[in-house]
Amino acid sequence: MPTVLAVETSCDESAAAVVRDRQVLASAVASQVEEHARWGGVVPEIASRRHVEALPQLVERVMAESGLNYADLDAIAATVAPGLVGALLVGSITGRTLARLHGLPFLGVHHLEGHLCSVQLGEPLPPGPYLVLLVSGGHTELVRVDGVGSYQRLGRSHDDAAGEAFDKVARLLGLGYPGGPAIQAAAATGDSQRFPLPKGRVSRPEGGFHPYDFSFSGLKTAVLRLVQRLEQEPQELPVADIAASFERVVAEVLVERSCRCALDQGLDTVVLVGGVAANRRLRQAMEERCAVLGLQWRVAPLAYCTDNAAMIGVAGAARLASGARSGCDLGVMARLTLEQAGSLYETRSGCKSL
Ligand code: KG4
Ligand code: ZN
Repeated sequence: MPTVLAVETSCDESAAAVVRDRQVLASAVASQVEEHARWGGVVPEIASRRHVEALPQLVERVMAESGLNYADLDAIAATVAPGLVGALLVGSITGRTLARLHGLPFLGVHHLEGHLCSVQLGEPLPPGPYLVLLVSGGHTELVRVDGVGSYQRLGRSHDDAAGEAFDKVARLLGLGYPGGPAIQAAAATGDSQRFPLPKGRVSRPEGGFHPYDFSFSGLKTAVLRLVQRLEQEPQELPVADIAASFERVVAEVLVERSCRCALDQGLDTVVLVGGVAANRRLRQAMEERCAVLGLQWRVAPLAYCTDNAAMIGVAGAARLASGARSGCDLGVMARLTLEQAGSLYETRSGCKSL
């Protein structure tokens, strides 16, 4: 059971964790949300600076909380792709330096592989293969998982990611950033059936629609038009009803296409991960639909849906157990598909200690 110190700095959360296989010994996240909220989104330059300031204390804190020394660790892991390059560099340099200093192997982890692994921090999974719906601020993907590093993308968004749609619609409704939790809170008292909204479909060149792909830009525009129309009326904008109707449609689309994909592929388990997996209505809709269809479902624990380092540690531990190591000169990448995650590893070499 490998023990791994992991750091995560791909976007606006600085995070560190110590995990032993699937057990979290310590985990800490320093969110920069309040600072970015002033600008309505993540400002890359600010994100990098805050990571530089926060990461050393976070690493110290999780090491102290775990009760372990560096000699007890088997590897150091850091997110190296995809994400904001300046932000990724902070975690990558921290991870590689610690690895070198303590003579430990370094594992450069794909952020989405971390999200895929976050479900392992909850209830044990039935034996694979299974279908993962990965819904975050940057990605909306349906991924067939057959084992560590064996991923096949079966569906994706052609424009906004689901989390991005939450963030943009929240801004339209004056609900602030990040939009997901704000919309969920506003929607709690709203009538989700009040406004019919479109379930964005993606056309195929050969005709018909792609059964597992998503498009959220039309939905966002529909909410914009609705808001513009309602603002002409004397009544106050029905923010709760609009938020609830939007949230319902996003949850329905995600659940319908995931379940269809799982059934078509002969997969009997659907797994929900990523920041949007924290959404209450989505979790409930997935649970209900899977029960009707006789599918099993799992969701990442709430604390590990949004960005964290524990999931990076689990992914690193899984790669380490399969004999993988990253080179000490591994760079960072703004873009890298999940299918390419294996390119981050080479056969055993390890970093020489100083
Ligand atoms: O996975 P994550 O922390 O970062 C990325 O890798 O992108 O996801 C962040 C996204 C944001 O767009 C945020 O609005 C959304 O997850 N989110 C939610 C909820 N909590 C976070 N969306 C809907 N409902 C929530 N409760
Ligand atoms: Zn993420």
